[in-house]
Amino acid sequence: MKSSVLRIEQSPPLHGTVSLLGAKNAVLVIIASLILTRGKSILKNVPASDDVFNMIEVLRSLNAQAHFDKETHTLVVDTSALDKWSVSPSLMKKMRASILVMGPLLARFGRAHVAVPGGCVIGERPIDYHVKNFKKMGVIFEQQAEYLHAYASHIHPARIVLEYPSVGATENVLMAAVATPGTTEIINAALEPEVLDLIVVLRKMGAHIEIHAPAIISITGVTDFHPVEHEVVVDRLEAGALLLAAAVTNGSLTITNARSDIMDVFLAKLEEMGHVITVSAAGLTLQATADPYAVSFKTGPYPGFPTDLQAPMMAAQCLAQGVSIVEETVFENRLLHVRELQKMGAQIKVEYTKATITGVDDLYGTAVIATDIRASCALALAGLVAHGVTTMTGLHHWTRGYDGLEKKLKAVGARMELMSDDMFNPLIAPYTAEYPIQK
Ligand code: EPZ
Repeated sequence: MKSSVLRIEQSPPLHGTVSLLGAKNAVLVIIASLILTRGKSILKNVPASDDVFNMIEVLRSLNAQAHFDKETHTLVVDTSALDKWSVSPSLMKKMRASILVMGPLLARFGRAHVAVPGGCVIGERPIDYHVKNFKKMGVIFEQQAEYLHAYASHIHPARIVLEYPSVGATENVLMAAVATPGTTEIINAALEPEVLDLIVVLRKMGAHIEIHAPAIISITGVTDFHPVEHEVVVDRLEAGALLLAAAVTNGSLTITNARSDIMDVFLAKLEEMGHVITVSAAGLTLQATADPYAVSFKTGPYPGFPTDLQAPMMAAQCLAQGVSIVEETVFENRLLHVRELQKMGAQIKVEYTKATITGVDDLYGTAVIATDIRASCALALAGLVAHGVTTMTGLHHWTRGYDGLEKKLKAVGARMELMSDDMFNPLIAPYTAEYPIQK
């Protein structure tokens, strides 16, 4: 029976050692990039999260073969028989990242028939940059009902200037340009660690890619792409979730394979709160302070503060001393977790895309709803420190973005339990502490 509720109790300080899986936002685009190759590729440290299963289904729908060993986190994809360039709207709508098959399909087949993936609660998330960039490379588009037909019969190199360093738009142009004769340049490119991991994979395939300061990617097209073996870069967002769980519970945690070099701004903010971060042969360790200071931050493109850690970091401000001002600049509607944190007693005021959090002494467990992947993490963190029991629904967000994060947290002391419908009856919902109605 599929789990439908995450039950979280106030937990003792978390202590222990954990390790990270590969980054969801790297492995999704890397799986799509395998469309460029003909043969069997092997990806390691792949998280068994729902979005990964969805992307595997997209490739299977194009007649690729895939075998995923969830125990060893090894994914084998054979694209020898891949002969389709059309993805069904139902598959496309399941996950926005499916738009990332467009670039490699154009490169391999000269055409791609995809549906517009649609937005989500955090924003409209249009694909205008993707379409504009491909048109600049000579790709022709026709919209037929839900389908977007793209034809690359006259694809040519171009100087692509991104008005915003969009991760997906950078990745899609990259995967088309690697097979386009001549040299394509992407100006103001996204250089997130997950984009750089895709570039590592494309280079392993045989692509010619150079990166120049300040944010220019230069791609010279080649014709042959061979299958690859690659260990996916570790997930800095899973690392953030684990470190914040130790921070909010006044615990200490070591992450054996964390990459501190791709988390600098986030780690600096944790230290500004008073938590102690050390990097040693054992890994990256956070020793929490019992009296954290509230810190302010503004999200932005890498290497700025990651928008995907905004909600979890906001949860950590709710019980910190002082006032934190959080500004979300990447997505236009990524503060929906505020309402749920307020239900737990957090003092937060929102003005447009800015939230002001005034630290309180206590949070109180109650029933909350996750609105996106990272909001589910924020609410789980708040549940670890709230009095009583927190029950979180909207769990598909949690399982879309994380692979067994609740197991990792339980192993270091968190009181968390995934519950299926038959185990959870709202009529006898677990005790949830009443908290004083906000004055
Ligand atoms: C990727 O989404 C990530 N997803 C997101 O992670 C992440 O938050 C985001 O990059 C920013 O870092 C994956 O990699 C699968 P963008 P992407 O294009 O590529 C606007 C998570 O929780 N935009 O950099 O879709 C867009 O609306 C997810 O793991 C356009 O206007 O992000 C947004 O406001 C959430 N037109 C901004 O740019 C376009 O054509 C940044 O989006 C494309 C984007």
